[in-house]
Amino acid sequence: MSHAAVRDVESAGVVVNPDMGFDAPHLVTELPGPKARAHIAFDERYTSPSLPRAYPIVPVRGRGSVIEDIDGNRFLDFCAGIAVNVTGHAHPRVVAAIQQQASELLHYSASDFYLPIYAHLAAELERIAPMHAPTRVFLGNSGTEVVEAAIKLARYATGRQYIVGFLGGFHGRTFGSVSLSASKAKYHAHFGPMLPGIYHVPFGSAGLDELEQRIFHRLVPANEVAAIIVEPIQGEGGIQVPDPAFLPRLRRICDQHGILLVADEVQSGMGRTGRMWAIQHWGVEPDVVLTAKGLASGMPIGALIAREHLMTWSAGAHGSTFGGNPVSCAAALATIALLEEGLIDNAAARGEQMLAALRPLVAAHPGHVRDVRGKGLLIGVQFDSGVTAAAVEHEAFERGLMVLTAGDDVIRMSPPLVITQQETASGCRIFAETVAAVAGR
Ligand SMILES: Cc1ncc(COP(=O)(O)O)c(C=O)c1O
Repeated sequence: MSHAAVRDVESAGVVVNPDMGFDAPHLVTELPGPKARAHIAFDERYTSPSLPRAYPIVPVRGRGSVIEDIDGNRFLDFCAGIAVNVTGHAHPRVVAAIQQQASELLHYSASDFYLPIYAHLAAELERIAPMHAPTRVFLGNSGTEVVEAAIKLARYATGRQYIVGFLGGFHGRTFGSVSLSASKAKYHAHFGPMLPGIYHVPFGSAGLDELEQRIFHRLVPANEVAAIIVEPIQGEGGIQVPDPAFLPRLRRICDQHGILLVADEVQSGMGRTGRMWAIQHWGVEPDVVLTAKGLASGMPIGALIAREHLMTWSAGAHGSTFGGNPVSCAAALATIALLEEGLIDNAAARGEQMLAALRPLVAAHPGHVRDVRGKGLLIGVQFDSGVTAAAVEHEAFERGLMVLTAGDDVIRMSPPLVITQQETASGCRIFAETVAAVAGR
C-alpha cells in the first residue's frame, strides 16, 4: 500500500486516534504510580491468584493505540489487550454501535429464540469466511468456547473420536481446549487427566512426517481421526510462522483421510496478519474456522464457522445462554466494516514498517536477539532466553511501551490495527532503545 493510500485511510476516519491530545508515551509518575500500587494491593486481596499478570499496569482508559493508567500515565499499546482491540480503543463507530444496540436490546438468548442480529452476523461471517462454500455459524462468548464447540462438532459430524493438535499450540483453558493446548506444561499441571483421544505432533512440515509415519502408522488409523486443529500462525507459542509447504500439505492429508481441518484463528484472524485470515497467506481453505479475540473489538464473543454440510447436529446438541449477545454482535458488525474499509490494509503496511524497523536488532545485538518474524501486526522478537525477554518486557513498560512475552523467549507485538505510521515508528524506536539497554547490562 502506498503512503498516499495510507493517508487516505487516515483521513477517511478509519485509522484514527479519536482524541489527538491523547499521545503516548506520557509518563507523569514513577511506575507503578501511587494509585496503581494501592489498587494492586486491593486486587491481590480479592482476585484469583491464577491470573498471570505481566507487569504492574492498571489501565482505566484507552483511545486509538494509547492506554492511560490509573495515575494518568499514557502508554503506547503494542498488546491490544492480548491481540483483541483491532479497531483500537474506543473507536467512535464501535462505541456508537454498542450504545445503539444496548439501548434497544441488551440480551435475549439466541439459543432459544430468533435473535435478528445473530443471523445477520452469521451471514456476514459466511461472506468473509476463508472457505468459498455455504457455511453455518455458532456464536459463543470466547475463544475457548468455540474450540470446545469445534471438538464436539468434529466428533458429531464425523462419528470419529480422535483429534490432533500441534506442539506449541494454544487453544484455551477449558477442558477440551486446554487438553489440545501444548505450549506450556503449566497449563496442564495438577489438572490431569486431560481429555482422552488427543494427539500432538510438532508444528511444521516435520510434524506432518511424524503424523503420517508415527501417529497414523503406529497409534491410531487416520480414518478414526475426526479433526486436526491448527493455528495457522501460532500466537501464544511464540509467533511461529510455519514453513510454506506445511498448511497446503496439511489440507491434502485431511482430504485424503476425510479429516476436518479446523483453523483456530482466535488470535491470528480478523485482519491481524494483513489478510482477514492468516490461513489465506497460504491459499488454504479450512473446513471450520474459529474466531474470537478481535471479532468484536473487545466485546466478548467467539464464532465457529463451519461448512454447511458439517452442521449435522440436531436441535439442543449445542447452545449457549449468552453466546451471540446482541451488543457483542453489533460491535462485531461495526468491526468487520472497519476492517474492510482500510484496517486490514493498514495492518499489512504497518507490519512491513515494523519488521523493517525491528529486523536490524538481530545484527545489532547478536548475543541477545535471535529472530524477528511475523505477518502484518502479529510480530515476534525472539531472544536468547526467557530471562532476557522478560527483562525487555518490563523495561519497555517502564519506558511507556506495552508488549507481552509469548512462548519461551519471545516478545509478542500485536498493536491495534488503527496504529499510525508515526506511532509505529515511535514504538519501534522505544523498543530498540529498550533492547540496547537490556543487552548493555
Ligand atoms: C489461538 C487461540 N485459541 C484460543 C484461545 C482462547 O481464547 P479465550 O481466552 O478467549 O478463551 C486463545 C487465547 O489466547 C488463542 O490465542
